Parts: sequence; C-alpha cells; structure tokens
Amino acid sequence: MKSKISWAEPYKMKMVELLKMTNSKQRTKAIKEAGYNTFLLKSEDVYIDLLTDSGTNSMSDRQWGAFMTGDEAYAGSKSFYKLEKAIQQFYGYKYIIPTHQGRAAENILSKILIKKGDVIPGNMYFTTTRLHQELAGGQFFDIIIDEAHDPFNEHPFKGNIDISKLDKLVKKYGAKKIPYVSLATNVNLAGGQPISMENLKELRHYTKKHKIRIIHDMTRVAENAYFIQQREKGYEKKSIKEIVKEICSHTDGATMSAKKDALVNIGGFLATNEWDVYEEARNLVVVYEGLHTYGGLAGRDMEAIAIGIEESLDDFHQHARVGQVEYLGTKMIEYKIPIVKPIGGHGIFVDAKSFLPHLNQEQYPAQTLAAEIYIEGGIRTMERGIVSAGRKSNGENHKPKLELVRFTIPRRVYTQAHMDVIAESAASVYDRRKHIKGLKMIYEPKYLRFFQAKFETIK
Ligand code: F0G
Repeated sequence: MKSKISWAEPYKMKMVELLKMTNSKQRTKAIKEAGYNTFLLKSEDVYIDLLTDSGTNSMSDRQWGAFMTGDEAYAGSKSFYKLEKAIQQFYGYKYIIPTHQGRAAENILSKILIKKGDVIPGNMYFTTTRLHQELAGGQFFDIIIDEAHDPFNEHPFKGNIDISKLDKLVKKYGAKKIPYVSLATNVNLAGGQPISMENLKELRHYTKKHKIRIIHDMTRVAENAYFIQQREKGYEKKSIKEIVKEICSHTDGATMSAKKDALVNIGGFLATNEWDVYEEARNLVVVYEGLHTYGGLAGRDMEAIAIGIEESLDDFHQHARVGQVEYLGTKMIEYKIPIVKPIGGHGIFVDAKSFLPHLNQEQYPAQTLAAEIYIEGGIRTMERGIVSAGRKSNGENHKPKLELVRFTIPRRVYTQAHMDVIAESAASVYDRRKHIKGLKMIYEPKYLRFFQAKFETIK
C-alpha cells in the first residue's frame, strides 16, 4: 500500500445521475424556506449532497444484478439465508435478525437488554442509539477518552474508551446495573475516529471480569479496521477482512446500519451470540418490523447487503474510500479551515466554534455554517453540535464540546473534482466568515429535533 503511486478507485462508472445546477439567489431562497435546516431542503436543489453517508452509496453491478434474484417469500426467504451466511462468515456473529435499518435493531435490543434505572456506558453517544437506550429506561454515560472531545488533538485512536471512567461507573452503580457497554467502531460524532484493537482487548478483559456484555455498533467497522491496519503495530500486514473479524470476536452482539459500510441504500440487522437474546429478538421483531427472516426488508435488499458486506472488506475499496476523505481534508487544511484531526473515516468535520468564533453556542454556529455552505456552493452538510445533542431529561440543552459541521462523503459516488469544489466553496465561506450572523430556533420538535427544527437569521 505504501507505493509512490497514489490510490484510485477500484471500479469504473457505468451509469450517472444528472444534477440540477442552481445559483446563489435560488439557494438563498431555498434554505430560507427550509428554515435554515439542511434536512428540510429538497434534494433536487442540492448539487453535492454531503448530508450523510447513510443510504447514499452507489451499489455495484453485482449488487444490482442480485436485486433480480431476491427471493420475496414472506417466510424462509433464500435471500435471508444468504445474508445470515455472510454475517456469520465475515463478522462471526451467531444469530441474526434483519431490520429495516440500524435504529430498528437498536430499538429491539434496548427493549430486551435494558431495565429501568440501568446504566449504559458508551464511547460517545449517537443520536438514535442513545434515545432508544433512554426510551427503554436506561441512562447513557460517555466514557470515551477526553482527547475525543478536543477537535485538534491528534490522538490516532480518538474512539478509545477510558477504562477508568467505566470502572468509576461500575464502582458507583454496580456491574449488575450495566447490561452492556455500547461500543461504536469509528465513532461518528467524534469525527469518524477509530478505536484501537489494544483498547478493545483491554475493554474485553475488564468486561469479562465484571460479566458485562459489549454490544457493538458496527455501522462503520470496516473503516475502523482500515485505520487499525494503517496505524496499529502488528496489524500492517493483516487484511481488513481479518481485522473486522477480530474486532467482532471481542464483542457479544451488534447492531448494524448496513446503509453505511455495507454499501446499500437501506437495511440493517441485529446480531448476537446469545441464544436467549436471539429468541426474544426473534419474537419482538415481528411486532415492529416483520417476520424474523425479512425484518422489514425486501428479499432483494438482503441479497444486496450480503454482497455489499463482502465488497466493503476489500482492502483497495477501503483505501480509496478513506483516501478520498483524506484528500478533501488535506485540501481544507491547505485553505486553513479548522477541521477535526486526525482526518476521520466517513467525512470531514469542520469545527464551527473556531470557524465562527464571534457566535456563542446558542446562536447555533454549526447550523449557521451548514446553511452558508449550502448558499455558497449548493453543498449540503449536516449540523453535529448543540442542535443534534438535544435536551436532557430535565429540559436543559445538552451543550456538547464539539460544535461541528459534517461533510459526509457517500461511498463510490463523487469524484476528486467534486472534492475540489467542496473545499473551494468552504474556503469562500471562510473568507467572508466575519460577516456571518447566527440563527435562532423558531420551531423545536420533541424527539431528535435536528431533523425537523426550524430557524431564522438573527438580524
Ligand atoms: N449508529 C451510528 C453510528 C450511526 O451513524 C447511525 C446512523 C445509526 C446507528 C442509525 O442507523 O440510520 O440506519 O437507523 N447514522 C446516520 C448518519 C443517520 O447520518 O450519521 P440508521
């Protein structure tokens, strides 16, 4: 991998989707109508869509081909058994329940494992994951290392867990109150930052001693494995496939949003090595999703996921995938734009607090910046700051240290020229940053407010 020739994509294009080009006047109107919330823009008004890497992947010809072979039987679909086999083979988990996407798996698992008053430690929260833990009666505690909350700290494994923080929770509440540690690989809200195998092994050692499960949010596990291969001693010569299997082997079960790593547009699953948990999940899934051999998915979707899992574990694929993100991040650094470092796996996270230091957090710097980036270049990004963090049970705002705008890169979708335009647009906004005013919230929904909240500019 360390040759002088730069990476390039291990695929070529067979079909393209034409985009509508807009001007800044049209975009100023569109974002105003969307209440300065990029989630409420119409996608046809967006030129480069970096809202998320979720469900926005390009599927391969093999995946599209497999669509035609989907077995749409209500029960016992052939496609289910293919998916089950792929998950057992590549991830190593024993029992599998398909779900329509990641949060459905989180819902079912939280309902089974969490009792009222339980404590769920995790390496930084994710919005839907934490909400399901709370709705099931649990309380989430962040046990990620402190470095993860500092956007410029260059720790190579900012997803690591601080075992002493976990130990404090165990001492305070007792291990019986902790049904599992909620462990994410390539932590999304920290900026797509990996956990090291060494840290995971320490965590396994500690949790075994205290009889606490590890439930793995494996949404971006292959990207995490890529960083382990690049950065961790002893893993240079291991393949992504081997590293992923090893990561999973140190955990007891998983929830997965296949819409990311696994290169599809919809799908997810719950996996466990425990028969009792599986049995309950198999029963609950029929209440919320569908029979346990389709769980809210079409047979064709399960076919595409089975193939996507395998494609995601190809070393050349991951090198090009993370390489493209690194290319964009390096350009942004050249333009002096403050981004989270090290550059993460699924996108570039711009630090809105340093970008717009004249705004306080209640003027929503990241929300404001996302709106400006859209007006500038038709580029849609996502707020990952105080709006996404929501409110505590006592009604107060969570005030996360990280106030970020996420430029998330869909897999196998955009070109290097698109990356140039994105960096140039961000640089233009940076040049006029001093004139940018903040926002005020004028509508706030009760759950996961970032999706539908509306804002107005401060005069
Ligand atoms: N876990 C992580 C780490 C995620 O990033 C997501 C989704 C989920 C769970 C939930 O999965 O969307 O399939 O229900 N993240 C998307 C994002 C929405 O844009 O980061 P889902």
